[in-house]
Amino acid sequence: MPCTDVIIIGGGLSALVAAKKLSKHKNVIIFTKSTKTSSNSYMAQGGVAAAIGKDDDWSSHFKDTMAAGCHYNLSDQVRTLVQQGPAQIKQLMKEGLEFDQETGGSIALGKEGAHSRRRILHAGGDATGKAMTTFLLHQISDNVTIIEQEMAVDLITERGRCRGIKSIDKNGSVRHHFAEHTVIATGGVGSLYKFTSNHSSVIGDGIAMAYRAGVELVDLEFIQFHPTMLYQHGEVLGLVSEAVRGEGAFLVDEHGRKIMDNVHPLGDLAPRDVVAREIYNQIQQGIDVFLDISPVSNFSKRFPTIHRLCQEHDLNGSPLLPVIPGSHFLMGGIKTGKGGETSLPGLYAVGEAAWTGVHGANRIASNSLLEGIVFGDLTAENILSKAPSLLVNHPVFSNAQTFKGTLPEKDAIRWMMAEYAGVVRNQQGLTKLKKWLEEFFDPHGPITIDNRETAEKVNMLTVAWLITTSALARRESRGGHYRTDFPVSSTEWKNKRITRQLQKQAA
Ligand code: SIN
Repeated sequence: MPCTDVIIIGGGLSALVAAKKLSKHKNVIIFTKSTKTSSNSYMAQGGVAAAIGKDDDWSSHFKDTMAAGCHYNLSDQVRTLVQQGPAQIKQLMKEGLEFDQETGGSIALGKEGAHSRRRILHAGGDATGKAMTTFLLHQISDNVTIIEQEMAVDLITERGRCRGIKSIDKNGSVRHHFAEHTVIATGGVGSLYKFTSNHSSVIGDGIAMAYRAGVELVDLEFIQFHPTMLYQHGEVLGLVSEAVRGEGAFLVDEHGRKIMDNVHPLGDLAPRDVVAREIYNQIQQGIDVFLDISPVSNFSKRFPTIHRLCQEHDLNGSPLLPVIPGSHFLMGGIKTGKGGETSLPGLYAVGEAAWTGVHGANRIASNSLLEGIVFGDLTAENILSKAPSLLVNHPVFSNAQTFKGTLPEKDAIRWMMAEYAGVVRNQQGLTKLKKWLEEFFDPHGPITIDNRETAEKVNMLTVAWLITTSALARRESRGGHYRTDFPVSSTEWKNKRITRQLQKQAA
């Protein structure tokens, strides 16, 4: 079987940015388990943050990112992000990527939570991710092979190095693909939860694969819940971008009381963890919460996607949009260094699957597309700098046993996660969840997977278990990890990362 230079698992923005640079010198294949437009990047509404405004500079963006992240971010990595971001974006614009403009022709900059300036570039109003991924897909179309509907299920490792992937193709056949370098770009874990803004395919596959291969993971307890998912009849219908609050919308309870008054100095534009928790608390008390969009001028023009969503569900008759928090972003992930390298030689991670340390305990709005661009590029550069490895033989595979346990329904996992590892957590709930997950699989045992449905369920259980044990281990509250039994941040935990060792103690 031939050996590809680089395999990338996943097709979001960070994957496309890396593929673009790599494909100038290397053979690149992208594998996606669904289609090339089925990614969180494609769905991203708000925009991409970059200090390009006249009144702005990287140090202000740095300060805001660190504050929203509870100063738990890796400051060096944040500096890289905010310093390199504007140049990367300007380069894409030079190549033809168009962002929305003001009437005079300058770039229109939006405002989002915890940013002290207007610094969010957007495209198509609220379809920034679609514009950016479509642009990059077009740019790489001649040089990169994209294989859709083929799910990577495990990493192939040999003599301490990643050698490619085992996958299940669209006909259900198990395949092995060898590569000099493998990049995980499978996104976060949003669809492990009942209510989410994420694409339904985003369940932490790459993180589960990395765990099985013994790769170092970090900070998996930090999950961001987006405050404003449009909600009707017990179901989430889609995201209402934070940019809507940036244009003046505000949160009210069913009696019309502004719920963010007196909660945080930034009010409705407080960091997401603060806003999400406040809405959650209201809803727990049986009080419905609404986003009042009446102050937003030209709503249908500025936010066409959200406007359409409201229309489709007959919610455009009133300026009060019913909202609920939903899982949105994983701050932790596969531990990476400055160039996407993981603890396993030959394996890299980018985008939400990767922990670069830039987001701290709570990601500031619109830094995720920026991370995808900056670290996608740095990872490609790192790979291009590597000398070829000397391994030439392909590993031989034994006929390992197929996974035989009885697995729960995916919705049952989502319900349990929302209930016990959601916006707020505690020892009792997390312990119950951990026991429940362990009824179905042994997180320490060898698992061999040979069909897609099993792969997805096992991955969901694995990542749910990793989040749960990490959340049990962190006995404090910080950003996207809030424990009612340890409600304050502790200095003891300020610089302590939950890695495999600490997690094992909790398990
Ligand atoms: C949003 O538009 O509110 C989401 C953007 C983000 O998560 O950065």
